[in-house]
Amino acid sequence: MPPESPAATISPAQGFIAEHAHYDEDLGFWEAHADRLGGPVCDIGAAAGRVTVRIAARGHEVWAIDTDPEMLDVLMERAVDAGVQARVHPVLGSMTDPLPVSDAGLVAIPMNSLQLLLTAEERVACLRHAARGLRAGGEMIFDLAMPHLEVTRDLRGCVLDTGHSVDPANGDLLMHTAIFDEVDVASGNVALRLLIERIRRDGSRSRVERGHRLHLYAPEEIPRLAAEAGLVVLSGEGGFRGEPLAPECERHVWRLGTAAL
Ligand SMILES: C[S@@+](CC[C@H](N)C(=O)[O-])C[C@H]1O[C@@H](n2cnc3c(N)ncnc32)[C@H](O)[C@@H]1O
Repeated sequence: MPPESPAATISPAQGFIAEHAHYDEDLGFWEAHADRLGGPVCDIGAAAGRVTVRIAARGHEVWAIDTDPEMLDVLMERAVDAGVQARVHPVLGSMTDPLPVSDAGLVAIPMNSLQLLLTAEERVACLRHAARGLRAGGEMIFDLAMPHLEVTRDLRGCVLDTGHSVDPANGDLLMHTAIFDEVDVASGNVALRLLIERIRRDGSRSRVERGHRLHLYAPEEIPRLAAEAGLVVLSGEGGFRGEPLAPECERHVWRLGTAAL
């Protein structure tokens, strides 16, 4: 059996791109809402620009907000490669900060990033700033993983297979697994490790591991949170294609508007 190679030499941001290259099921959703609502768009937790670059390519001004400067550097490199850098404005900051614009058509938080806020105070602050940064008729839209907390608690410590993908840069196979170490059913907060094993064409392997603490939202939390932040729920759905919200859905997807509407 080929030996295990040393840990990957690629940066965390490049690793993020490789590990999520296969995930595109939401891109048409974000493009359609950006086109419907118009810019400026705030992409919060923009990471390496997966959504930002697609929206900017449709002609919208995008403010890409993230706490990780390296992610924003990679995001701008990708914006340059796509020829959209003039419309992309990187902002090093947190989703609990005021937005950089006060007339956003769309405040987007794609791919579960709102789950990174572990306290109720942070979550309300984030939505309040979105409410203040939206123009009349603008919307805040986010998607979240559907929690299955009792099941997850019972599976603590187990290595869960979460799928595999291919790194388009070199054809390496990436095996994705997750281990939940802590599950607090009462608060919805969990600690988990994502482990990605890279299997190269010559059979050599390496692994990266990332630890995360997340808040897993029950769908019924969102209307309360929206009301506290001065926003109203326009829709809550079970996917990116308008699926009805149900406990068996993999995710929940929310559109919030300003209360004055
Ligand atoms: C799951 S990734 C986001 C993926 C990205 N939205 C996409 O669709 O490709 C989470 C990102 O949120 C960023 N992040 C973590 N805490 C944050 C915070 N408080 N405010 C803004 N960004 C944050 C991380 O640096 C990371 O880039």
